[in-house]
Amino acid sequence: MKRVFSGIQPTGDQHLGNYLGATRNWVEMQHHTEAVFCVVDLHAITIPQASGAVRDGSLRLSQMLMAVGLDPEQCIIFVQSHVREHTECAWLMECNVSFGELSRMTQFKDKSGRQEFISSGLFTYPALQAADIVLYDTDQVPVGADQRQHIEIARDIAERFNSRYGPTFTVPEAIVPKAGARVMDLQRPTDKMSKSLDSPKGTVNLLDEPKLIAKKIKSAVTDNDGAVRFDVAEKPGVSNLLSILGASTNRDPAALADEYTQYGSLKVDTADAVVALLEPIQARYRELEGDPAETARLLALGANKARTIAAATMDRARTNVGLLQA
Ligand code: TRP
Repeated sequence: MKRVFSGIQPTGDQHLGNYLGATRNWVEMQHHTEAVFCVVDLHAITIPQASGAVRDGSLRLSQMLMAVGLDPEQCIIFVQSHVREHTECAWLMECNVSFGELSRMTQFKDKSGRQEFISSGLFTYPALQAADIVLYDTDQVPVGADQRQHIEIARDIAERFNSRYGPTFTVPEAIVPKAGARVMDLQRPTDKMSKSLDSPKGTVNLLDEPKLIAKKIKSAVTDNDGAVRFDVAEKPGVSNLLSILGASTNRDPAALADEYTQYGSLKVDTADAVVALLEPIQARYRELEGDPAETARLLALGANKARTIAAATMDRARTNVGLLQA
């Protein structure tokens, strides 16, 4: 079975775009791969965070990942900082990637442009990400298109390490979902739905009340031509509604378009479908939220399983680098 690894930062609440574009696929993958999912709290602190925000965010995100269906019996789900091998392996990665390579990362250029204090951790972020991946002998990394460059550099580091020190790490490949699964902002349908946009009305959070979900979807921006057609370039707003309805009901958005003549009824059905999709997720989340001790138990289970794999990889890496045995 293929080993799959992905990471997700515990910053901000999960929204419909995260679920339909990523985590819903992860739920699928846990049944036919050896899947490892990591709440990457150490990546979150590459940027200053408010006190307590990372702790709360890690707990909430872990509970949400379980609520959407990641089953700690079926996959490994854990918090990055609970497995010390991540930081240790990151050092080996840092010593096998150049300043020049890291300087070319577009995400670093973007993010550092927005920071007053640019930490060296933000610069070496891709090395920590490479460590996350190689520790688990990962074959495939499901990520959004924005992470392609980070997976590419992880491959380069793994290959370089293997050629310098002998076969040690599996060289991973990125799995990027088709553009069709992309959920766009309801108010600005040419931008991806995101937690960082200053447009709360355009983002459906997974924990939004049904009424609020319906309100956001009903006030989604469309266009004036009145025809229901799936045409992302010409009709981004309507196409986004069709995509969301299609993804929520497992139907093809273009085929769905034929069933509608009015934006109003498309919106009503999309809102109903999203509310129905999220209802069981919200119920499971409330249960987990009410029992933090159970979440802690499940995360300890995940960390233990992760540590077993990561420790074996690190032993191999230390030996191959030529460090003196302790
Ligand atoms: N950098 C990723 C993001 O911002 C998160 C991440 C950290 C990750 N480590 C990873 C993704 C390893 C895939 C594999 O989305």
